Amino acid sequence: MFIVANWKAYVEDIGKARRLFAVSKRLTHVSKNKIILAPPAPILGALAFKNKSRITFAAQDISLTTGGAKTGEVTARVYAAVGAEYAIIGHSERRAAGDTNTIIAEKLAHALAQGLVPILCVGECIRDDEGQYLSFVREEITSAIKTLAPKERTKVIVAYEPLWTIGKTAASAISSNELAEMVLYIRKVLAELFPGKNAARSSVLYGGSVEPENIRGLAGGSGVDGFLIGHASVDPHIFATLVKQLN
Ligand code: PGA
Repeated sequence: MFIVANWKAYVEDIGKARRLFAVSKRLTHVSKNKIILAPPAPILGALAFKNKSRITFAAQDISLTTGGAKTGEVTARVYAAVGAEYAIIGHSERRAAGDTNTIIAEKLAHALAQGLVPILCVGECIRDDEGQYLSFVREEITSAIKTLAPKERTKVIVAYEPLWTIGKTAASAISSNELAEMVLYIRKVLAELFPGKNAARSSVLYGGSVEPENIRGLAGGSGVDGFLIGHASVDPHIFATLVKQLN
């Protein structure tokens, strides 16, 4: 199982970041899950550079630029240089700040060009009775992946994060049946895009109010390969509980 801790802008001091990193490192000794931390950019640099532990790091986003006279931009190459191995791309909070499907496709290519594994976030705003949310998610996945070379496509990890579940509590998160249906659907969409139609090679994660109360239920039988966790990942005790629940 992948456990991606999306620290967003919740962690703003290096002391707290170091405490969370220390707890995460200890967890790698008692858990087979793959823990990926996604801190704000400067903190990622401080923790990931010369990191020798089993913890891996993800950028929360990467720039659309590839270097040059672009003040304030952090490129995929910089993230790779300081030790990131993954990049979250297309998070709904970045989409809300202006990232379109076209921009996201380009960022995916930049990430892959620097050897970063993209974690592509997709998810509908609301669910409608006609099932239009399915075509919405299909379009987000297809537009991001179709311009990549076939062998690059299978490297992309998809994180399904319906907006209606983000930043709430376990009680308003998705049910495990709803999640199971969506994971199957996403694998079907990916199968159409993958060479040899091999969807088994894809990893599909879920994110949106994953908490100790629901993580086990969501993991069991839904077919997900892991979780992208926001607010519950920045409290060391809660994060440790989440990781242990998946053991
Ligand atoms: P949340 O955030 O766990 O706080 O809902 C998840 C995310 O936005 O990635």
